Amino acid sequence: MKKKFRVFVTSRIPEAGLQILASKCELDIFADEKLTRTQFIRHLQDKDGLLCLLSNPVDSEIIDSAPRLKVISNYAVGYNNIDIQAATRRGIVVTNTPGVLTDATADLAWALLLAVSRRIVEGDRMMRRGDYRGWEPQLLLGQDLKDKTLGILGAGRIGSAVARRSVGWNMQVLYFDRKRNPDLEEKVNARFTPLNQLFAYSDFISIHLPLTAETNHLVDEKALRRMKSTACLVNTARGPIVDEAALVRALKEGWIAGAALDVFENEPEIHPELKSLNNAVLTPHIGSATVGTRNAMAKIAAENLLAVLAGGKPRFPVNHIG
Ligand code: DGY
Repeated sequence: MKKKFRVFVTSRIPEAGLQILASKCELDIFADEKLTRTQFIRHLQDKDGLLCLLSNPVDSEIIDSAPRLKVISNYAVGYNNIDIQAATRRGIVVTNTPGVLTDATADLAWALLLAVSRRIVEGDRMMRRGDYRGWEPQLLLGQDLKDKTLGILGAGRIGSAVARRSVGWNMQVLYFDRKRNPDLEEKVNARFTPLNQLFAYSDFISIHLPLTAETNHLVDEKALRRMKSTACLVNTARGPIVDEAALVRALKEGWIAGAALDVFENEPEIHPELKSLNNAVLTPHIGSATVGTRNAMAKIAAENLLAVLAGGKPRFPVNHIG
């Protein structure tokens, strides 16, 4: 039987999602490593649906090159890679995958916080180089977590989950967002704090904001200079929220003690000097990278897409089509 809808999938997502799609759609799955702009436009031009990654910029030219397109399903919770206005103008529904990746991302934020504060990656490198000469009183001294202050930038699902995990360390939680989060205030005694104060008083700052025009370079030189020289910055949200060149200076010149980054300003490129800094822990955007989470994301992305093609409402729309 001929399938009714044609869908372009820009990369091989887990089978759990592909099977759902394949039951109803003719799939064109891009299997090469890097999708060029020309290839993107060519593959999309006759498609009804697009399932794409956060690393696929979907701008107005790409959107307008696909006259049949009805839905863009992003395999991510963040959707800054998509020109939402251009899609909305064309009546195209854009969807995302919130919720299922909250815990995995919060866990990674904590893994990074612990790694940078206890200098775990430095220690690992020392062992592999064969430089360990035995226990020493001053070897790789890091920062304590207990009773310290955790600053959360962005108190949505993931920021709140990170804050909840701080209870075991008896931390004071400060948070900043566009609006207050009474639930977080009640559950972990978190304090809504102006940005300048959050930068100045926190021992650890973890970023969980979406990338928008307002949050781009929110953590700039001024903010970094406000932080304590013993503080560590963790970013599992989006790279451009931090001015990477300013961060390199902050780490080199000791304005702050360390940074742990899962996201970068120009992925997959990273500032060349970051790689040589011992007080930076770097991971390759793996916040949601657990088997269970990626399977769940694949299913939701597929279901969102099919719901729109079937003429219904998707579970997680990010724009409103009148
Ligand atoms: C997202 O979904 O936005 C994450 O960055 C992917 O891990």
